[in-house]
Amino acid sequence: MKVISDIASLREVVSDCKRTGRSVGFVPTMGNLHDGHLQLVKRAKSHNDVVIVSIFVNPMQFGENEDLDAYPRTIEEDKAKLVNDGVDAVFLPSVSDMYPCGLKAQTYVEVPGISDVLCGASRPGHFRGVATVVSKLFNMVQPDDAFFGEKDFQQLQVIRTMVRDLSMSVNVHGVATQREASGLAMSSRNGYLSHEQKATASFIYQEMTRAKALIEQGNAQFSDIADSIVSNLEAKGFKNDYVSIVNADTLQRPVAGDKHLVIVVALFMGTTRLIDNLQVAL
Ligand code: PAJ
Repeated sequence: MKVISDIASLREVVSDCKRTGRSVGFVPTMGNLHDGHLQLVKRAKSHNDVVIVSIFVNPMQFGENEDLDAYPRTIEEDKAKLVNDGVDAVFLPSVSDMYPCGLKAQTYVEVPGISDVLCGASRPGHFRGVATVVSKLFNMVQPDDAFFGEKDFQQLQVIRTMVRDLSMSVNVHGVATQREASGLAMSSRNGYLSHEQKATASFIYQEMTRAKALIEQGNAQFSDIADSIVSNLEAKGFKNDYVSIVNADTLQRPVAGDKHLVIVVALFMGTTRLIDNLQVAL
């Protein structure tokens, strides 16, 4: 596996792929890799000739009081996992390569509307940071295909919207959420949880599954269902950020006849913010 830490070397690898007609699959990550990330790698491997993974903890998408400094950095373990999974190249840009003029970049990518609700409302500027870094990474890697987890459902929709609106020539693939046996969605932030907190966190999936069954049975009282999820999870010790049932494409309140909904949740367990979602097809 090639370990690439500067943009010029990355461009050489990418040009070589283009010259020899090999398709490039790209998996952007912030590292501390777990089976959720590796599922994206697996999909990329089955779809493309060459797989490039990036690891970059993107300061632009963290708010001032968020966990940028504490975010787990486990680069050696990550590289070993990627070698094991047959990744061709890992790209590890530095913050100064990514943002040569500092974080107050002169050009941002904003995806208004879809970025303003849910996590975007709770984390102002977050999706601007995500859209900016992902479009920069797309410009560097020039992938044919890029793979994102449905775990971050709103992020996936923001990226799809950006690619459509800016006519980017990359196919975006969504990959199903990988879960622990308990139902807890795998996440680098689960490492912040104590053993007991982790056990409690599995109630999130239980509650979403209960709500999904109600909706499938024809219950369209979406705000009542969301309220019941909040009160059941608050009773377990969670602090609510948002729980909502929305149209899966627009992330807006469903209207009659909508066929594809998603239950989206963000809750705090102690100081750790957990997000999850479950899609419902009607
Ligand atoms: P990160 O949190 O490292 O996630 C990288 C990719 O892995 C994202 O597409 C995310 O949705 C996916 N992923 C995380 N947990 C998953 C799970 N349990 N099942 C399936 N996929 C999962 O998301 C980011 O990094 C950043 O915002 C990034 C896109 C790299 C931009 O900085």
